[in-house]
Amino acid sequence: MDNRAILITGCSSGIGHYTAHALHERGYRVFATARKAADVERLRADGLESFQLDLDDSASIEATVADVLACTDNRLFGVFHNGAYGQPGAVEDLDRNTLRQQFETNLFGWHDLNHRILPVMRAQGHGRIIYNSSVLGFVAMRFRGAYNASKYALEGLADTQRLELRGTGIHISLIQPGPITSRFRQNAFAAYKANINPDNSAFRDAYQRMEERLEKEGPAAPFTLGPEAVLKRVIHALESPRPKHRYAVTLPTYAFAYLKRVLPGRWLDHLLAKAGG
Ligand SMILES: NC(=O)c1ccc[n+]([C@@H]2O[C@H](COP(=O)([O-])OP(=O)(O)OC[C@H]3O[C@@H](n4cnc5c(N)ncnc54)[C@H](OP(=O)(O)O)[C@@H]3O)[C@@H](O)[C@H]2O)c1
Repeated sequence: MDNRAILITGCSSGIGHYTAHALHERGYRVFATARKAADVERLRADGLESFQLDLDDSASIEATVADVLACTDNRLFGVFHNGAYGQPGAVEDLDRNTLRQQFETNLFGWHDLNHRILPVMRAQGHGRIIYNSSVLGFVAMRFRGAYNASKYALEGLADTQRLELRGTGIHISLIQPGPITSRFRQNAFAAYKANINPDNSAFRDAYQRMEERLEKEGPAAPFTLGPEAVLKRVIHALESPRPKHRYAVTLPTYAFAYLKRVLPGRWLDHLLAKAGG
């Protein structure tokens, strides 16, 4: 793609890792960022241009944006906001810091990066901003409250921003994957162990079942797809003259989007309680 520059966050594993390599092969100039130095080294060894970017740290975002723009003569075709994690735990078991941390990474870091890139896109008169949201950006599931809230908030921010950017040549797209093969579950399990004490919880028994699901090898949910399913939508959002506002990925996303429109709330809750395990 004639060397168009795109910055991607969270490229150490999963969707970010796969997309960075695939877009590089497609001819994009990919800036594949990761928060750990060892992952940056690994990405460089793969032949990618890679920089350290920790979404929890504004100084890291600022420095990396400056480094990337220095490489591109102050131009950036697109950003794929992707780096995030899921904080499991019942809403009542989330202390303030745990909830805040979820928003620091999944929302405030993304906003911080956008805030620094938008003037560049405005000056060049075009740009593609792609947010990796989730099916959990529009339906809720038990013990995913922190993550649900961060993705719902992201959807609200993106919808507002799209209205504000009308006519600027800058397009905003949300991708809404259901279950995708990645390290998401392992990273969520680590966040659960770090921040939730099941022994003090009214949900102790339910947590036990959740732990079994999070520890399970292989696809945990039916209809799991590989990261190439997300890549397909990222490419459309980057290359179509009319990128979509939202891209559904996986059957559960299509199904819940439809069911949310047609079912009474009580029925939808019943289904979501079952589907969430
Ligand atoms: N997999 C799914 O089923 C699924 C479904 C819907 C939406 N999504 C979304 O897809 C995106 C990618 O997730 P994934 O499934 O590919 O999971 P993943 O394999 O766990 O990848 C998440 C990436 O985010 C990075 N990250 C976490 N905290 C960060 C921080 N503070 N600063 C910078 N990077 C950070 C991780 O880096 P470290 O290795 O350093 O932790 C990792 O590179 C996320 O936005 C997620 O919400 C995933």
